[in-house]
Amino acid sequence: MGAYTAAYERSISDPTRFWGVAARDIRWRTPPDRVLDDGAPPFYRWFTGGELNTCENALDRHVEDGHGGRLALIYDSPVTGTRRSYTYRELTGEVALFAGALRALGVDRGDRVVLYLPMVPQAVIAMLACARLGAVHSTVFGGFAPKELAVRIDDARPKVVVSASCGIEGSRVVPYKPMLDAALELSAHQVNHCVILQRPEAPAPGGHAELTRPRDLDWDEAVTGAAPAECVPVAATDPLYILYTSGTTGRPKGVVRDNGGHAVALRWSMENVYGVGPGDVFWAASDVGWVVGHSYIVYAPLLTGCTTVLYEGKPVGTPDAGAFWRVASEHGVKAMFTAPTAIRAVKKEDPQAELLGAYDLSALETLFLAGERLDPDTYQWASRALDRPVIDHWWQTETGWPIVANPRGLEPMAVKPGSPSVPVPGYDVRVLAPDGREAEPGADGDIVIRLPLPPGTLPTLWQDDERFVQSYLTRYPGHYLTGDGGRIDEDGYVWVMGRTDDVINVAGHRLSTGVMEEVIAAHPAVAECAVIGVGDELKGQVPRGFVVLKSDAAIDAAQLRSELVGAVRRQVGPVASFKEVAIVPALPKTRSGKILRGTMRGLADGREVPVPSTIEDASVLDALRPILRPTT
Ligand code: COA
Ligand code: AMP
Repeated sequence: MGAYTAAYERSISDPTRFWGVAARDIRWRTPPDRVLDDGAPPFYRWFTGGELNTCENALDRHVEDGHGGRLALIYDSPVTGTRRSYTYRELTGEVALFAGALRALGVDRGDRVVLYLPMVPQAVIAMLACARLGAVHSTVFGGFAPKELAVRIDDARPKVVVSASCGIEGSRVVPYKPMLDAALELSAHQVNHCVILQRPEAPAPGGHAELTRPRDLDWDEAVTGAAPAECVPVAATDPLYILYTSGTTGRPKGVVRDNGGHAVALRWSMENVYGVGPGDVFWAASDVGWVVGHSYIVYAPLLTGCTTVLYEGKPVGTPDAGAFWRVASEHGVKAMFTAPTAIRAVKKEDPQAELLGAYDLSALETLFLAGERLDPDTYQWASRALDRPVIDHWWQTETGWPIVANPRGLEPMAVKPGSPSVPVPGYDVRVLAPDGREAEPGADGDIVIRLPLPPGTLPTLWQDDERFVQSYLTRYPGHYLTGDGGRIDEDGYVWVMGRTDDVINVAGHRLSTGVMEEVIAAHPAVAECAVIGVGDELKGQVPRGFVVLKSDAAIDAAQLRSELVGAVRRQVGPVASFKEVAIVPALPKTRSGKILRGTMRGLADGREVPVPSTIEDASVLDALRPILRPTT
């Protein structure tokens, strides 16, 4: 039996022993009484009775173990022309100081802090400072508009928001402070303070964002004179962070991450999945606003004692399609992680990968890709260009670390292009048919995970156990519904074919079509609408809207389109990339009035989908066929 199969079987047959051993790599203030607390299914808790501090495990312990001089963080920002690195000792000092500043603003164990920050070291510092205090951070991606930020502020009810005067998107300066102010106008919850990192690139008067006194403080002002804060031990089951992710409705889901299970699972994943250990340089080219950023820019590399790279730039245009290779070569990156869409962007600009030749990539062993399906073309291109393993792996915000992967550290498996390979130890992955029976090998169905989920995965949704159970655990009792469809083949490889709900994936960014529909439906000329994700060569998927006008609507089609595109950009954010709207006479529906979004998606993807027998009027669907047909 290979190392993978042995580990996998142990993890499923005796999870307590398996994760109990893994937990030895974490420093506990109080060791757990129980590894797995399964007394109240469908809720499971890991490492109950244990106490630890995640920041201590990510920073202080490495300094105490004699690695204070090792690089913890390299900030590489082509958009500002800045490079800066922090040793473990320096980063610990900065984090302790900012934690002290937050404490002086009244932030304590269990309090929430919302972070709305670009890719700057202060984002990492602020996250770890919250962890140090036992406070709960909730990072909101900078590409979201004020309304989306406001919804998250209202749900998390933070005492403090930490933001910056601006972000930099390629060559464009995006002022963040006015968006934060607008969000705070919209939110019912009011925060005590906002800490604003003043960046020289902000366009506001004096080069800085205007502060609203006494609510707002400058970051530098906040840390001046602050007393460094010590690590506060918290329960393993206490929340470390809340990360909002798109569900099928307009209201985002607050995925909760605990402290203990998260530290154990992430630490384990670095060596076993990614094949990296202490002292190695790891680079996840993502954003701290997404789960990849939380897990693999910040927590996992630092828990492991690696050097992590924080890259403020794009795969192309900052300045060219060789940017990724430059960063990997300059910092001696051993394992790199990004989304397939980023590789497609590079491939489009530099199809022969000529720019790669200018860089010494001898340290780079593996390229990991996730966030959306890795299409075989992109896989082949990257494998040829890099001439080293390109590894697809599948996971989601809810799980926080890979569900299915090629466990490079444990035992490299043969790659089957199009499949992220095999279930990671801890995840009992199954494919179920609609009647709840297990699908035959090779047959499509819903991909589910048998409970309990391993450590590090979501224990619940923020203050909403009911929605947690309803969204994930009700469809197939005893199983977690991933929301993805696919199959498991004869060799045990999992094939993830796409979402079965109304979540779409645009350039590796997870978005809800429901939230866009809400914005469109609010337009006075719109009677009803549907938004679906359609295939896109670069971004994987892009949203496409279909609207039916009110009978008395007197608006020019071009004007309506531009108003709707503008409204989604303003209210959801530019990241939605909502640019296409079709005005149609009617939407296909079932007799009970449900819009047949799944059927529309199928036709837009160029699949021959059966017309549901419950359709109210098949001629409506027929009229849509030419509009839906894929153009790429
Ligand atoms: N703050 C403000 N605006 C942002 C933003 C941020 N943090 N991130 C993105 N945006 C804006 C972009 O500027 C763009 O605006 P535009 O419509 O005015 O051009 C819009 O949101 C869409 O952004 P994006 O999806 O990033 O598209 P792009 O065309 O700028 O770049 C790629 C395309 C493929 C290069 C880019 O999406 C990419 O690097 N993707 C990697 C994905 C990734 O890291 N995913 C995380 C999971 S691993
Ligand atoms: P997020 O929560 O933003 O990480 O998005 C998770 C979703 O992205 C999953 O449910 C999948 O639909 C998709 N996804 C992520 N990684 C992969 C992958 N390797 N293959 C296919 N789909 C993926």
